[in-house]
Amino acid sequence: MTSLLKLENCKVRYGAVEAVRGINLEIRKGEIVALLGANGAGKSSTMNAIAGLTPVAEGKVWFEGRDITDLDPEEIPISGLTLSPEGRRVFGTLSVDDNLRMGAYAIRDKASIQTARERVFDLFPILAERRNQYAGTLSGGQQQMLAIGRALMCNPRLLLLDEPSLGLAPLIVEQVFVLIEKLRDEGSTIFLVEQNVTGALQIADRAYMMASGLIRSEGTAEEMRTGDMAASYLVGH
Ligand SMILES: Nc1ncnc2c1ncn2[C@@H]1O[C@H](COP(=O)(O)OP(=O)(O)OP(=O)(O)O)[C@@H](O)[C@H]1O
Ligand SMILES: [Mg+2]
Repeated sequence: MTSLLKLENCKVRYGAVEAVRGINLEIRKGEIVALLGANGAGKSSTMNAIAGLTPVAEGKVWFEGRDITDLDPEEIPISGLTLSPEGRRVFGTLSVDDNLRMGAYAIRDKASIQTARERVFDLFPILAERRNQYAGTLSGGQQQMLAIGRALMCNPRLLLLDEPSLGLAPLIVEQVFVLIEKLRDEGSTIFLVEQNVTGALQIADRAYMMASGLIRSEGTAEEMRTGDMAASYLVGH
């Protein structure tokens, strides 16, 4: 399988704190890959560094064979990769529709924007119903759907999702996982941070486990479900 994303010895620092201490990972086309680990392990720092929101202190990020390490955050979606960041960052004082339009800023062709918008409305019919409502007045689950929908608006070939199930009711969590599988089946590749280890390993093809800024183990979802690292993580939490 073709390598879509590759991290080579990536480090992220906040002042004296080294949150990511030199990690290597690879995502191949068509996979769902989970990034697991306890609070503070460095998962969001890794995602934000890939998306250009946090600088990569050392190392390289390759996307489709291109070095995107030092691209500005606005340039990354244009290259075909988007992040739905942790914590449902929607623009509360803008309508649902305007939030989606902002997600499509990288696309100039009006017809493609319309197609992307219709696809998001197909995936999340509630967003179509609420298209004129202020995003800040949506429920938590609806805001999460909007955050994912916005990330889908520029038709990314690689979608990064940082805790898409956080704070959602079990039924909605189930729906989000089903949606992620659907996106993969439609040809997207997904790199996913999850605290919901059991749920993530049900849909993922492979997983990486992070602890204290390092990748501690990696393997197929099956290996991670049954392996010692997963077991110790689950027992520890
Ligand atoms: N902007 C920042 N300034 C200083 N330290 C930070 C900053 N962002 C993260 N950190 C630190 O970096 C480490 C990794 O944080 P990160 O958010 O990447 O963890 P995480 O694995 O996503 O955790 P969680 O599961 O709680 O979301 C933590 O020790 C955190 O305190
Ligand atoms: Mg995080």
